[in-house]
Amino acid sequence: MLVESPVVPTGQGSTMRILVTGGAGFVGSHLCERLLAEGHEVICVDNLSTGRLQNVAGLLDHPSFTYLAHDVVEPLPPLPRLDRIYHLASPASPPAYQRNPIATLRVNSEGTRHVLELAAVHDASFLYASTSEVYGDPLEHPQCEEYRGNVSTVGPRSMYDEAKRCGEALTIAYAREHEVETRIVRIFNTYGPRMDPNDGRVVSNFIVQALRGTPLTVYGAGSQTRSFQYVDDLIDGMIRLMESAHCGPVNIGNPSEYTILQFAQLIRELTATAAPIEFLPLPADDPKQRRPDITLAQTVLGWEPRVSVRAGLAATIAYFKEELGADLVAANGHHRNYSLPAHMIGRRDVIQSTVN
Ligand SMILES: NC(=O)c1ccc[n+]([C@@H]2O[C@H](COP(=O)([O-])OP(=O)(O)OC[C@H]3O[C@@H](n4cnc5c(N)ncnc54)[C@H](O)[C@@H]3O)[C@@H](O)[C@H]2O)c1
Repeated sequence: MLVESPVVPTGQGSTMRILVTGGAGFVGSHLCERLLAEGHEVICVDNLSTGRLQNVAGLLDHPSFTYLAHDVVEPLPPLPRLDRIYHLASPASPPAYQRNPIATLRVNSEGTRHVLELAAVHDASFLYASTSEVYGDPLEHPQCEEYRGNVSTVGPRSMYDEAKRCGEALTIAYAREHEVETRIVRIFNTYGPRMDPNDGRVVSNFIVQALRGTPLTVYGAGSQTRSFQYVDDLIDGMIRLMESAHCGPVNIGNPSEYTILQFAQLIRELTATAAPIEFLPLPADDPKQRRPDITLAQTVLGWEPRVSVRAGLAATIAYFKEELGADLVAANGHHRNYSLPAHMIGRRDVIQSTVN
């Protein structure tokens, strides 16, 4: 039984009216900007739990942009007729979801159900922002969409991984039971301007540490791999998926794979920092490898990443320099003395700690 939500009829124009939940977040703000640039009307819903109003500050005066402060765990207020819904609301960085485990589970389950109800009532196409974390610590490499994952229901990442798996299941249930046009995108590690310097993701951590001249923190030996895509490529993939006839799930990510140690060294090079690398214990359940198989996206969406890691990082580093501004005093200065794990000492690919 669908919960009735009043729809304000406004008639259908040539542009679409599009709801973006989590629109004040890192990815959501780029999506809102791109949809507005394509001439659509955008309603951004966010509770600013991990997002920042400054991400959409440049859009607030746009005549086709509406910002709605709302927690999607609660049913949404009456809205004008919607054509598309992108559902991105959810904490996304490990520190953010581990600080708020119940909120993370609720927004991806209860919140997703409310937004799917809205999609059903409005007859709007719905895209769910899922994640490569549904593959957990994968036993298959690279990961294709058929792989069912290796996820702990009770581990330290379970509140996010299982919440996203539940969100996918709800999405497909609404497609089957209520014939909602649904799409599921499995997003792999994404970076770019507007990342929150303090939210603890690997790319932002490394760049901020490098620019501040403090040690780049690598967990374990840094041999675990990740693949990093630039945000513009992700937005392109999400829009193509929404406008395709393919309900998904579809991996959207950049298959260039780096060990975390290689990646830290690349950031050191691109920021020209003298900051050393510091090794810390590996957290439980940290995935050992991650690389998307993007054959499906190439085949059904004609999509593949276009922005090279070096070009994307250059734009991101420029953003962080501006964002951190006055904080960036004494880059390459004052390091504490850090001791390397025994197996690292003497390795030429490891930067030894220094005291300046
Ligand atoms: N960035 C990545 O690398 C990545 C990777 C995989 C999946 N994703 C998914 O993409 C989406 C966006 O991620 P992001 O990197 O932009 O994270 P983000 O934290 O910057 O953005 C998420 C936004 O959702 C909002 N939000 C959270 N709970 C809400 C609620 N209950 N009601 C309304 N708004 C709420 C936050 O305030 C924030 O603005 C998330 O669903 C995330 O799981 C991101």
